[in-house]
Amino acid sequence: MRINKYIAQAGIASRRKADELIANGNVKVNGAVMKEPGYDVGEGDEVRVNGRLVTGAQKPVYVLVNKPLGMVTTAADDRDRATVMELVADIDARLYPVGRLDYNTTGALIMTNDGDLTYRVTHPKHELTKTYRALVKGVLSDEKARRLARGVDIGGYVTRRAQVRIIKGTQSSTLVEITIHEGKNRQVRKMFASVGNPVQELERVAIGPVRLGHLRPGHYRKLTREEIEFLKNC
Ligand code: URA
Repeated sequence: MRINKYIAQAGIASRRKADELIANGNVKVNGAVMKEPGYDVGEGDEVRVNGRLVTGAQKPVYVLVNKPLGMVTTAADDRDRATVMELVADIDARLYPVGRLDYNTTGALIMTNDGDLTYRVTHPKHELTKTYRALVKGVLSDEKARRLARGVDIGGYVTRRAQVRIIKGTQSSTLVEITIHEGKNRQVRKMFASVGNPVQELERVAIGPVRLGHLRPGHYRKLTREEIEFLKNC
């Protein structure tokens, strides 16, 4: 198997990223730097990326987790906080989160060992929608909801069109559903802050067609075949 595919199927990087790692000298085969992108990995070859052993192609696994509060979406945390890896510890494959959710955001997060799928789903050009339920401080007027939908400046970046729907509200807070088409860092929090309604609670309820539904916090489910096909072709 070609070395870039071998690395991608182990979940470490997309094939394209693997090519970069190879070109940059980050990949070693049997102790020697391998810069040949067409290298065919043989049975006994030991492949390492940045020193880490690549354990070979795994069966692809795709799950949706419901991330609880107070967990980071990185594989390891330098502050020793709990990571979402714990949620899939009973799955016999090394899964990685697809994209990020803030420490204090809950909800839908896809995890997989398919590096190519991760690359597709997180690439801005694929414009996969993400839907959030936000509990925001104060009254969110219809006028503000329209501004959010048209696009707001979140500090040097004007957000693209979004769908905004007010679900219910009181004088002290408003529950809003918002669908965005890009994923800038802390985008939803920055959007609501820009109209004067800071986010108090944030939950992602859907990633494209993959809906959280009644999945309980801290639990996971396998993606359906249709969901996987959609993400592979998005
Ligand atoms: N937008 C945010 O502000 N936070 C998230 O975790 C995701 C989207």
